Amino acid sequence: MNTTSHIAVFASGTGTTLQTLIDEQLQHGYHVALVVANRDCSALARAQNAHIPTLLSKDWTEIDQTLTQHDIQLVVLAGFLAIIPEWICHKWEERIINIHPSLLPKHGGKGMYGIRVQEAVLEAGDTTAGCTVHYVSAEVDGGSIIAQTTVPVLPNDTPDTLSQRVQQAEKLLLPRTIATILHNITQH
Ligand code: GAR
Repeated sequence: MNTTSHIAVFASGTGTTLQTLIDEQLQHGYHVALVVANRDCSALARAQNAHIPTLLSKDWTEIDQTLTQHDIQLVVLAGFLAIIPEWICHKWEERIINIHPSLLPKHGGKGMYGIRVQEAVLEAGDTTAGCTVHYVSAEVDGGSIIAQTTVPVLPNDTPDTLSQRVQQAEKLLLPRTIATILHNITQH
């Protein structure tokens, strides 16, 4: 029997996080079984190159049904820029996680994504930045925190240099956290 857990990755952009999740799947014992995008984006091309089924849709009923069809145990938002409707958050409670490029609850919420987050970190004069994996709830970036990694803010940092450091940390944290969550799910 094949017991490898199936995950779905939701993306809206370049998909470098998706690429890491694909590259790390064997080592971390999960299978990227579906990629969902809400718009045409490079993440879809990365999925197609890896022969992973894709769905380009904004229809949440269709998305929900497709997750079930592919026997998805965990949904990972990786640069997915649409708000998840409340009914999906409830139905998939503790089965949807998000990676956010700050130490939540700092620098989160609606409109806080990508480079904007690191601009806010520098404007605030923070000496530490980082990333957070959290469960997705109806409140944007408000679900409970699962794991965080900190990185230093260096004196000459620009939003770009800081963003690169945070993204490196994200790409270590996310596959490990997925493996831990799936391990806990399959134990219960
Ligand atoms: C990642 O840095 C992720 O933390 C961020 O988008 C990037 C995705 O890049 N997500 C957010 O800001 C969500 N609020 P990618 O498309 O290259 O994977």
